[in-house]
Amino acid sequence: MTHDSYVLILDYGSQYTQLIARRVREAGVYSEIHPFNTALNIVKTKPPAAIILSGGPASIYDPDSPQLDQQILNLNIPILGICYGLQALAHLLGGSVQRASEREYGRAVLKRISGGSVLFDGLQKAELTVWMSHGDKVIAPPPNFKVTASTPDTPVAALESDDGLICGVQFHPEVAHTPNGPQILANFLFKIAKIKPTWSMSSFVESSILEVRRRVGDSHVVAALSGGVDSSVMVALIHRAIGKQLHPIFVDNGLLRKDEAERVHQALEQRLGIEVDHIDASERFVGKLSKVTDPEKKRKIIGAEFIQIFEEESSRFPNVRFLAQGTLYPDVIESVSFRGGPSATIKSHHNVGGLPEFMRLELIEPLRELFKDEVRELGLVLGLDDSLVWRHPFPGPGLAVRILGEITRERLDLLREADAIAIDEIRKAGLYRDIWQAFVVLLPVRSVGVMGDERTYEHVAALRAVDSTDGMTADWFRLPHDVMAVISNRIINEVRGINRIVYDISSKPPSTIEWE
Ligand code: XMP
Repeated sequence: MTHDSYVLILDYGSQYTQLIARRVREAGVYSEIHPFNTALNIVKTKPPAAIILSGGPASIYDPDSPQLDQQILNLNIPILGICYGLQALAHLLGGSVQRASEREYGRAVLKRISGGSVLFDGLQKAELTVWMSHGDKVIAPPPNFKVTASTPDTPVAALESDDGLICGVQFHPEVAHTPNGPQILANFLFKIAKIKPTWSMSSFVESSILEVRRRVGDSHVVAALSGGVDSSVMVALIHRAIGKQLHPIFVDNGLLRKDEAERVHQALEQRLGIEVDHIDASERFVGKLSKVTDPEKKRKIIGAEFIQIFEEESSRFPNVRFLAQGTLYPDVIESVSFRGGPSATIKSHHNVGGLPEFMRLELIEPLRELFKDEVRELGLVLGLDDSLVWRHPFPGPGLAVRILGEITRERLDLLREADAIAIDEIRKAGLYRDIWQAFVVLLPVRSVGVMGDERTYEHVAALRAVDSTDGMTADWFRLPHDVMAVISNRIINEVRGINRIVYDISSKPPSTIEWE
């Protein structure tokens, strides 16, 4: 896809790099993240309107530390260096960076903001609170640079070049703890780099539609619809572009949450008029999973069965040349970083690469430039309803990895009911959106209970609710006791076969979000 003007973010490995990209986009400017050592000829093939150098964990004096390439500066493109990015700039240009004896971490207040600063335009009078997280620091600016802000601990908290093209900040304008961060980034984008904000969800929709039409022509496209946010938004977008040339296939594997198939029907078919090919394959999946207890085996069986069914179904449509997938930008960046860059996090790709190469279809991935929150926004722009757009993530292998041990229809039904009650109560308590993921797990143990005068011997289920931003790390959610109490009471009273509920209070790492 083409963008009038975009910002290139060179990644030096900061945990905040993705946040920089999102803030730039929120300001209405398209941005992309690439490794710090991206080859110059690649940068030149799509010249950015501005470059931002991210922070990073290294010290500029380490033998293998990532450096800034002089040739990037020779391009005469406006540059903002953030934290390590500032140090790399200063180091290359002849300023002086001091090795740290200790780290500065937390809030700091900027003093003495220079009157001539463009980066702080409109903010000079304020006492600005900023967020610091660094070891080394710049103590003297390079020639032809002026210091535009300092703090008691950081003499060069910000600098700008005399020619007005290059600037840098030691703090992190991209994090929420720097309240004026958006204004500072906007000053860089609009006053220093003089970019026009043209990136918005509606402009994205328009250009994506044209792009999909151009690529697809008269051919047909198949897509696997899971009921989750990403695949639903992807289908809604492509449908806008090519209508009936798109064939979304929804495979009910019998491992879905309660009423999932009905929900997909309502959200896409009734609401948006998109025809969906519903395949009820629950017998096949549950049959194949009979007596299987090993979680990896379960995943393999489900994956293989899915591929087979998807292939059978899609071969019924004539003239299919493309497979549409809901790949998101974080998956794309991670693979870039994995190949050459310094990014510290490498995620196991649960959802990527699930379909077979032998289908020989070309891929269409209209969401591959978007972050998750942008996909949600896009979903709303395309007319999907709120409850679908804010749905908790759900693993591909579904309830199969939430029934520990053997999977049977009876257990699946038990779990579906219990899970639906938990989610219902969490919604009623107004907590659904605060929680990253909540669900019930059926354990392979039975416990003794009493019901009336009778002794029972039934399943134990665990309630899990976690807080997370990307699923990579997670903390258990502090669910209020009264909400836990209603969930537990209702499940035990309403779901025959479960007589005990426990709450999972483990964080990831070292635990994982799912139990299998
Ligand atoms: P874990 O359990 O690894 O989960 O902490 C992290 C996130 O990934 C989801 N998950 C999966 N998603 N296929 C998927 O599509 C899988 O096999 C799978 N296993 C875990 C999990 O629900 C959580 O959001």
